[in-house]
Amino acid sequence: MDKQKKYERLYIQLKELVKKETDVIARMATINAVLYHKMDYFFWCGFYRLLNDELIVGPYQGPIACMKLAKNKGVCWAAINKQQIIVVEDVRNFKDHIACDSRSLSEIVIPITNSSGTIEFVLDVDSKSLNSFDKNDAEGLKKIVSLLFT
Ligand code: SME
Repeated sequence: MDKQKKYERLYIQLKELVKKETDVIARMATINAVLYHKMDYFFWCGFYRLLNDELIVGPYQGPIACMKLAKNKGVCWAAINKQQIIVVEDVRNFKDHIACDSRSLSEIVIPITNSSGTIEFVLDVDSKSLNSFDKNDAEGLKKIVSLLFT
């Protein structure tokens, strides 16, 4: 099945799951569990929360990750500062990349805006292969994380 179809299926499945509970942490945990177990190239998948101008880890699946990310460094902060999705083909070429696990080679970060228009979280996904993420991941994941605030 191609990526786009897979994301469409997961969106439908997750929409049903998240409507049972409005708590945002419960929704993040559920989204993570489904993504991590259904997308075979997801080596690490999780949320960071923007709290008092700090990025603190939230629900995630995969190897142990950094609990706090140094301010204005790395891919997650770049997604927040630029207010856009960032796709990194090779993390070794990304200035200031924060390596929580040296096995991660490519990455995508989606900034997540709450209903008032403020960025509250990011979704970060890492892969052990180079160049794993493309426009389909960006669009599919953006739609799925919009379920946090529906
Ligand atoms: N690589 C991220 C840090 C988080 S880990 O990938 C789990 C970054 O540069 O912001």
